[in-house]
Formats: sequence, structure tokens, C-alpha cells
Amino acid sequence: MTALLEIVALSKHFGGVKALSDVSFSVEPGTVLGLVGPNGSGKTTMFSCLTGYLKPTHGEARFEGRSLSGLSPERVCKLGVVRTWQKVRPLAKLSVLDNVVVGALCRTGSVKKAREIAHEQLKLVRLDARASVLAGALPIGERKKLEVARVLATQPRLVLFDEVMGGLNTSEKEELSELIVELRRKGLTQIVIEHDMKAILRVSDRLVVLGSGVKLADGAPAEVVREPAVISAYLGEPIAAG
Ligand SMILES: Nc1ncnc2c1ncn2[C@@H]1O[C@H](COP(=O)(O)OP(=O)(O)OP(=O)(O)O)[C@@H](O)[C@H]1O
Ligand SMILES: [Mg+2]
Repeated sequence: MTALLEIVALSKHFGGVKALSDVSFSVEPGTVLGLVGPNGSGKTTMFSCLTGYLKPTHGEARFEGRSLSGLSPERVCKLGVVRTWQKVRPLAKLSVLDNVVVGALCRTGSVKKAREIAHEQLKLVRLDARASVLAGALPIGERKKLEVARVLATQPRLVLFDEVMGGLNTSEKEELSELIVELRRKGLTQIVIEHDMKAILRVSDRLVVLGSGVKLADGAPAEVVREPAVISAYLGEPIAAG
């Protein structure tokens, strides 16, 4: 199978800090890849390098064989690769609906059509009842859902979720895990960064583990969580994999 995304020897240095060192992995179409690792291991930096917010120091990412190097976030989004933000930042003074309309306008010049798309996505994340509320007034769980609706409204081919379940309660996490699984069923390729290992094991087809910017493991989730390097750098102790 040809990979949808191929990351080739990607490095990102911030002065003396090597946030990513020679990381390579690929993502097959229609799969969910879990990207995990301790705080500061380079996960968010990887998303920023993939989506044009940061320029890699070395290496590159290829989407459908095409290099993403030097492309702006807008260009990358148009190609179909879009991310969420670990620290959610909705347009606080716009309504929930209008925040999603902004995402939809990536594909259409028609505000009417963008509103239709936005309503559909809000329904999907079960936020449609809150469409007219100001985004800044939402509690964290709903802000995370809004973030998901906003990226889905861009009609992406590859979504990068950065701790979209962070700060949520158990039932909200359940709901988002279900949504990720449902999106995969519909064929959407996803990379999911998440610290909750139960959630990550539930949604991922494959797991890549980073430690201090280096790839420590890459493979079937149940096997990766048994690797000694992963246990000592991240998990602390073996966990039961579903
Ligand atoms: N813009 C920046 N300037 C300088 N250093 C940075 C910058 N962004 C990240 N770093 C550093 O790069 C390293 C990787 O950070 P990153 O945010 O990618 O980690 P992470 O794996 O997402 O961590 P977390 O799980 O806490 O979100 C850290 O040492 C961080 O301090
Ligand atoms: Mg991060």
C-alpha cells in the first residue's frame, strides 16, 4: 500500500534544543496512527513541521508523494492536511457556528454553502445546540469539540489531533474516541497525539513513540507497549493492551 504521508529523516532544532532528530515514519491511508511520548518529546513540534507552522531543520514530509517543504499552513490545508491545537484557541468573539464556517471557507467561496457544511460538522460532534453561543463562553470539553468540527469543516484527507482529549472527563473522552473510530470507518486518515494510553490503544492501528525527539518505537500498539525502551522512557510500567 502506498503511504498517504511519509516523514523522511525529519529534524527540528531550536538553537541547541533538538526537538526532533531524524524521525521517519509513514501513515497508510484510512488508518489511525497514535503518536505518543513524554512531555517535551517533540510531538507537537512534529505537527507544526507537517503543517507549515515550523520549518524543519533537515528532512521533509511528503503527502501523496509531494513535498510539503516550504508550504504555508493555508496551502497545506488546501492539500488536505489540517491540525488541531493542544492549547485550543477559538475565535472567542465569534459564534460557535462562525468558527466552523471559517474552516469551511477553505473549500468554498459561498458563505451559504460554508454554513451548511458547518452545521453538518457541528451535528457530528454534537455541538449543534450551541451554534449561536460565543465560542469564548464554551467550557473546555465543548471547545475541544469545536476544534474538531472546525478542522473537519475544511474537508481534510489527513487530520492531526493534538491532545484533543486533554482536560476532558471520562465520558467526553469516550465520545471523542468514538468519533475518531467513526471517522476512520468513513476512511479518514488521522494522527492522534494523546497521553491517555487507554484511549490511544482503543483508536490506533499503529503506534509511534518519541523520546527526547528520537523515534523509540513504531509498530502494532500491543507490541510497542511491551518494548523495554518504551516502558522505561514513557510508560513506567507495562500496561495491558486491549
Ligand atoms: N517554539 C519553540 N522554541 C523553542 N523551543 C521549543 C519551541 N517549541 C518547542 N520547543 C521545545 O522543543 C521540545 C519539544 O516540545 P513539544 O512541544 O514538541 O513537545 P510535546 O511532545 O508536544 O510535549 P507535551 O506532551 O508536553 O505537549 C521541548 O524541549 C520544547 O521546550
Ligand atoms: Mg505537545
